[in-house]
Amino acid sequence: MKDDQLPDYLTKQVSRRSLLKGIGLGGAGVLLATSGVGSALALTDQFPDILGKNNSKNKINFYGTHQAGITTEQQNHLYFASLNITTSNKADLISLFKKWTEAAAAMTSGEAIGQPAKNGLLPPDDTGEVAGLSASNLTITFGVGPTFFEKEGKDRFGLLHKKPAELKDLPKFPLDALEERWTGGDICIQACSDDMQVAFHAVRNLVRIARGKAVLHFTQSGFLRSKQSSGKNETPRNLFGFKDGTINPNLKDKQELNEQVWVQRGDGPNWLIGGSYLVVRRIQMFIEVWDRTTLKDQEETFGRHRDSGAPLSKKNEFDQVDLEEKNENGQYVIPKTSHVRVAHGKGKEQILRRAYSYADGMDLKTGTFDAGLFFMSYQRKPSKQFVPMQQRLAQMDKLNEYIVHKGSAVFACLPGVKKGGFIGETLF
Ligand code: HEM
Repeated sequence: MKDDQLPDYLTKQVSRRSLLKGIGLGGAGVLLATSGVGSALALTDQFPDILGKNNSKNKINFYGTHQAGITTEQQNHLYFASLNITTSNKADLISLFKKWTEAAAAMTSGEAIGQPAKNGLLPPDDTGEVAGLSASNLTITFGVGPTFFEKEGKDRFGLLHKKPAELKDLPKFPLDALEERWTGGDICIQACSDDMQVAFHAVRNLVRIARGKAVLHFTQSGFLRSKQSSGKNETPRNLFGFKDGTINPNLKDKQELNEQVWVQRGDGPNWLIGGSYLVVRRIQMFIEVWDRTTLKDQEETFGRHRDSGAPLSKKNEFDQVDLEEKNENGQYVIPKTSHVRVAHGKGKEQILRRAYSYADGMDLKTGTFDAGLFFMSYQRKPSKQFVPMQQRLAQMDKLNEYIVHKGSAVFACLPGVKKGGFIGETLF
């Protein structure tokens, strides 16, 4: 097909690529061919977003001390994948991580992966569905699970001696109803973006690159309110209608993040310094049951007001939670079994919550929505942070009447990488 037969949106993309690859060097698409370099530069002013000029605004650098997507302000959408490795060859894995690094750096910069498609007899390197779209704050975060090192008692890649003690399956918690199809995995890829198509494209292309070396185990898409629908950057609400994410470590406080989120020297093997542990729980929420529950019960379940997000008896979302306050009957205002009280405990543990809502059609067993929270938290030591918290919650959280944990996984998210290096290089 010639350019002039292509739909308008495609010819614009051809032009964008040509512009980016070298203005005036003969790689001209339709716009350039008809308007010349001077006019093309004027065009970048006219259509800055289409032509990539404003891209830096919504690009998050892939390279850095830590991987992006952990302490990055949460984007609107998540596409998460857990993969199982099929190769038994360590060199294959290294080559895969190198290719992933290159592709992830390109995609988070808003660029297509590989080479521009020229040979009509070959499938293009990039699957193409984000041509013309900006990077949309895409972050791609990689992690390795316990089975990356050891499966069925076998040291798979001669790396077992490097497995951190913290990287192990979570203990079984009371009320867990885990299903294999949403549990575990050798590798995880968390793609977050303000555009779902961009997030999906990222995982799709990384999985495609992994062909012959790793396969999908499970995937999960997730969402939060978008910045278009609420420009105020308020705390997002979960599917029970409550603000979720109020109490979290301060993303700007380096010291706090070093204490709570980033693995430090001495915590375990050195290859993970600057990385973090990700705990994933696929939690189904019985939204139909919740919707028949009175507002008072709902608020007592969380210990917060629904509309304002304020702790019970307080006015504003960020007012101090007073766990000692009692009502005229001598009972705690924030009930003993309320989610925030039980999660808080004695205030010893903190985690960085980075959860997304999900809605996956119907639960075929019950005919209800299969919807809930794809809970993700980052922490420096799961055994000292997530585990004690979840042990308390599983025993006495009033929220348990309305939720069930169906999936679980834990990953060591690798440290960040410098340009020229590759993700996971400290491990290999
Ligand atoms: C579907 C399941 C869950 C829902 C709907 C939910 C919802 C909420 C809500 C609405 C709040 C209050 C606002 C806030 O501070 O963000 C909250 C607080 C919190 N949640 Fe959850 N949550 C769930 C599961 C979990 C799990 C599995 C954990 C960890 C094991 C957890 C840990 C926390 C913590 C640490 C807080 C802050 C407590 C404090 O005030 O100190 N949540 N959650």
